[in-house]
Amino acid sequence: MAGRLALVTGGNGDIGTAVCAALASAGYRVVTTCVDPEAEGIAEWQAQMRQQGHEVAYVVCNVADHDACVRMAEEVEREHGAVDVLVNLAGITRDTFLHKMKSEDWQAVLDVNLDSVFNVTRQFINGMRERGFGRVVNVASVNGQTGQFGQANYSASKAGMHGFTMALAKEGARKGITANTVSPGYVETSMTGKIAEEVRQQIVAQIPAGRMARPDEIARVIAFLAADESAFINGANIPVNGAQFCSF
Ligand code: CAA
Repeated sequence: MAGRLALVTGGNGDIGTAVCAALASAGYRVVTTCVDPEAEGIAEWQAQMRQQGHEVAYVVCNVADHDACVRMAEEVEREHGAVDVLVNLAGITRDTFLHKMKSEDWQAVLDVNLDSVFNVTRQFINGMRERGFGRVVNVASVNGQTGQFGQANYSASKAGMHGFTMALAKEGARKGITANTVSPGYVETSMTGKIAEEVRQQIVAQIPAGRMARPDEIARVIAFLAADESAFINGANIPVNGAQFCSF
């Protein structure tokens, strides 16, 4: 992996931090996107990563904005070189029952979670095809597989990600490109931290493992899929959910 470049969208979030650390530990050069470096405290975040021995660069980009992604890709390629591994991780929730959901709640979630996957992947796919190597890992959710109360928008966006993955897997297979989805269950993050305590307890009670996942338990699967050696795993959806949802 030495020298390969990995781009992680939203890599400074809770799962993202673990993903950046896992990839950096495996020898990748790593770049994350962020939207507002000051508000997100990116310099402090980089310093914390550095203390753990990881040098992670950042690029400013709202991945919901196609033109911003075009500019971001130019900057990444100019500053860091060709992207070999792309982890589409940036995502948001706007949980509310459908009968209360506003058009903005739907659109914001679809834009950030699903349109971003097109916006970002589109910028790097030609380069991957030309070089005959690429790894695209899309981070979806157990709730894209099962649906969830209050998440018509989020569940639709995450299910859509896997449709994209399967199509790209077929298109890229002869070009050395793999595309896979990782579907985490509930993970200890600021996103799940927003769930009301009562509802949270109800959710944890439905997880046979009896707990939520740690971010590093998701990151290790993403790093595994990113590896050169994972060349024949393509178009798969890997659930990481503590047996909350079992399927085949
Ligand atoms: N299972 C069963 N019943 C549920 C339920 C659930 N998961 N969620 C809500 N309900 C039921 C409630 O028990 C309640 O029933 P009664 O009317 O009989 O009392 C009814 O639905 C209304 O619930 P609320 O009072 O909570 O209604 P609300 O409008 O205030 O909130 C909600 C609704 C937004 C769905 C809220 O319940 C909620 O936030 N649920 C959690 C949604 C969730 O799991 N989000 C995941 C966020 S993390 C993430 O998305 C990461 C990932 O990939 C996993």
